[in-house]
Amino acid sequence: MPLALVQIVYLVAAVLFIFSLYWMNDPKTARRGVVAGASAMGLAILATWFQEGVGNYVWIIVPIILGFAVGVPLSLVPLTAVPQRTAISHAFGGLAAGLVGTAEYFMHATPEHEKLTPFCMFALVVEIILGFLTFTGSLMAAGKLQEVKWIPQRPVTYPFQNATNVGLLALACLLGLYLIFQPVGIFPTLAMILIVLLALAFGVLLVIPIGGADMPTVISILNAYAGLSAVAMGFVLNNKLLIVAGALDGSSGLILSIIMCRAMNRSFTNVLFGAFGQVQATAAGGEQKSYKSESIEGAAQILEQANLVAIIPGYGMAVAAAQHRVRELYDQLKKRGITVKFAIHPVAGRMPGHMNVVLAEADIPYTDLVEMDEINPDMPQCDVALVIGANDTVNPAARHDKATPIFGMPIIAADKAKIVLAIKRSKNPGFAGIDNELYFLDRTFMLFGDAKAVVGDLVKELSGEGGH
Ligand code: TAP
Repeated sequence: MPLALVQIVYLVAAVLFIFSLYWMNDPKTARRGVVAGASAMGLAILATWFQEGVGNYVWIIVPIILGFAVGVPLSLVPLTAVPQRTAISHAFGGLAAGLVGTAEYFMHATPEHEKLTPFCMFALVVEIILGFLTFTGSLMAAGKLQEVKWIPQRPVTYPFQNATNVGLLALACLLGLYLIFQPVGIFPTLAMILIVLLALAFGVLLVIPIGGADMPTVISILNAYAGLSAVAMGFVLNNKLLIVAGALDGSSGLILSIIMCRAMNRSFTNVLFGAFGQVQATAAGGEQKSYKSESIEGAAQILEQANLVAIIPGYGMAVAAAQHRVRELYDQLKKRGITVKFAIHPVAGRMPGHMNVVLAEADIPYTDLVEMDEINPDMPQCDVALVIGANDTVNPAARHDKATPIFGMPIIAADKAKIVLAIKRSKNPGFAGIDNELYFLDRTFMLFGDAKAVVGDLVKELSGEGGH
């Protein structure tokens, strides 16, 4: 394929990548966005395939087969596992960038080394450091989210931790600086190997002090690193599509991280160095306050008498896969002429849009999903706030208790509703590890149990199958 044609195909692919992100913005066009992104990737592979100078096609075919073998099962994971699945994808992206960078270096580290100009070495070092740290960091993040036994969920801290981490990164950067001026020889080769090892170690150490609750934000930051690594790889390989796609990946990851941090009222540094979730043991171990429980029959009666019900879903609803029972409950209430709205917190669950995706699976109309800022002014008119597996996102302590890790995080004002019904399995705290003041209010009634089972029982009761 002539070079000009390859460049045109790359340009079309770049435009499709941009539209893909744009279409992802809205649930109505999201599917189109996925098709556009996949088509852009297909075009990029095809154009590379027909490019002059591709020597051995086996080296393209084998990775494509391997990619399918890993990618297809990965795409079949349940919705609740999508955050860790995404982390694994970033890990592969980082590993690919790191390996390409290392291969490029060793391929060109000959005595002549014309290709290893200072600029190329700079891009190579950036690519390798970011690629390998994204690889191990993302694997750790996936492990924490999957609750792998040997990876502690809570932040692990030790003396001089931040200094050690910054020191490791600084050492890798210094070695990189050395390589820019002295790219080949025995010491430069050793320096390159050391940079790889330091980046791999840094990825692990970066994630260890961060609690499981912050993993979605960390994944998004690592996504930005993977994107930047791809940009550097684009400069090394002189591939413009890689530069564009990497920049899109990097900037979207960064924007997403900023949105998440804002929704939690946290800063980047607080997420990366705040050891969020560590305080819980002490906070949760404080004085024991008492909850009021309610029976299924009692709760069904309360719901039946309401005019406006706000259902507030959280991580617990997603993990219990209760969305279809919730849909049945929605139908039962609507049948009685009750207005039902779903109050969606921007960081409810474990990934952006988690609740929207899970509720869409049960065909709950998008028009009844209301964003936090929109529903909060109406909460005082709400007869019942039905909290299903949500915790931190409805904790009023976020408004006034400076000692809590969620202080300042905007919350859904469930406490302003006339009655609160809260479904959860136990008295355990939410992800931030603190007691929830909402559960101790006079107007709050707990329905202890698995969300799917409890909502199922409520549906039976309302439909007259409850046997009471
Ligand atoms: P959480 O605060 O994590 O609370 C979830 C609650 O669900 C828990 O209290 C748990 O209590 C309950 N639960 C778990 N399994 C259940 C089941 N099978 N049936 C019924 N209840 C169940 O949830 P949230 O309110 O959605 O808040 C999300 C948290 O994640 C926030 O702290 C947020 O900052 C953090 N976070 C989210 C994101 C994104 S993008 N979504 C990003 C970064 C951080 P029991 O164990 O007693 O059942």
